[in-house]
Amino acid sequence: MDKLQIVGGKRLNGDIAISGAKNAALPILCAGLLTSGDLDLTNVPRLHDVRTMLRLLEQTGLKVTQDDEHVVLNGANITSLEAPYELVKTMRASILVLGPMLARFGEARVSLPGGCAIGSRPVDQHIKGLRAMGADITIEGGYIHAKCAKLQGTRIHTDMITVTGTENLLMAAVLAEGETILENAAREPEVVDLANMLVAMGAKIDGIGTDRLVIQGVDALHGTRHAVISDRIEAATFLCAVAATGGDIRITNTRTDIFDVALDKLREMGVQLTVEGDTIRARMDGRPQPVSFRTTEYPGFPTDMQAQFMAVDTIARGPSRVTETIFENRFMHVQELNRLGASISTEGNTAFIEGVERLVGAPVMATDLRASASLVIAGLAAEGTTIVDRIYHLDRGYDRMEAKLSAVGADIVRIK
Ligand code: EPU
Repeated sequence: MDKLQIVGGKRLNGDIAISGAKNAALPILCAGLLTSGDLDLTNVPRLHDVRTMLRLLEQTGLKVTQDDEHVVLNGANITSLEAPYELVKTMRASILVLGPMLARFGEARVSLPGGCAIGSRPVDQHIKGLRAMGADITIEGGYIHAKCAKLQGTRIHTDMITVTGTENLLMAAVLAEGETILENAAREPEVVDLANMLVAMGAKIDGIGTDRLVIQGVDALHGTRHAVISDRIEAATFLCAVAATGGDIRITNTRTDIFDVALDKLREMGVQLTVEGDTIRARMDGRPQPVSFRTTEYPGFPTDMQAQFMAVDTIARGPSRVTETIFENRFMHVQELNRLGASISTEGNTAFIEGVERLVGAPVMATDLRASASLVIAGLAAEGTTIVDRIYHLDRGYDRMEAKLSAVGADIVRIK
């Protein structure tokens, strides 16, 4: 199992190009099932999760032609309507094939995702929405088996805001008969990116970017070209790294309008930000100021940035408080950060961070994707050597993170 060895205390200086967003690419790839035309995708990030999704889609008969970050999908000859347990258990986002398969072919068999390190993460809202559209859904042998003659448009109000739930129902609704209204829809930029691409494929969607999506079903969609939106979580992760180490970096290929809330928090930490087009320059000297925040759905503070900002807070000039409201168990980085000398205690879904003068390197264990990123940030800021174990979590969602960091002066190597 690969590990990362980090010798901390180096300032970061130079340019980092941001990749396409994992959480936009995954649903967008699934949209390849919605059409017999070519989906010509660029800016597809090189990630383990993307490879897993492509493997799953290839098993359905979807043709995949890939040249690095350029992927062309063709769904003219789909032969299997199944997402097997072996793949779903490694990547929950596999559930995103359910809506498209059902909408275009009237059937799908998708393994029910189990629990997850960060929370129980049920998919009841995906199922509830598809049932409301007329699908006959049974759960048997660990599989969701969904069938329908033709999905019917209807009004769906999900009990909570769900990102992949909205995406699944949206992909189902675009080929349903009549009008579907998705109330309480997720507004994340990744949902917007998917919706924009569906419109380019011939879908009729109103209210994109709002919590009420109105979809008029069409008989068929056609192929299109699309560049996956830039990864705001990756960008914020590198900005947190410079907040923790100090230095002067430029983030390129980014979209500053989609993560204002994180940029505001970075400014509050003392990072000097200059935004110009798709580039953000970030300069930082000295210890950060503490920032407190509470995670919420977009446009609030993203749960996917919580661990990384907490890593910076560990060395801030004062105490801070972080409340996680989206997932019930997303504090597993806390004990690992404490192993590096941080002073964090938790009470329910709130973490109290003291802010210490320095962290000291130690072996730590990555427990999930964003927790891994927070340990890398802490390791970069710590004195001495940090070894981050189980970095397969990191590889799921960050495109060559150690290469990007060493190019800006970090002392970080992958140990096989
Ligand atoms: N929920 C339910 N029932 C459902 C759906 C969701 O109870 O049917 C609950 C979840 O358990 C959670 C909350 O609703 O407590 C929100 O979950 P959501 O469905 O929005 O999460 P998701 O769609 O499974 C996506 C991202 C996550 C990100 C969350 C929240 C993808 C592939 N994944 O997950 O990304 O944290 O939205 O923004 O888009 C990551 O990239 O590290 C990651 C975990």
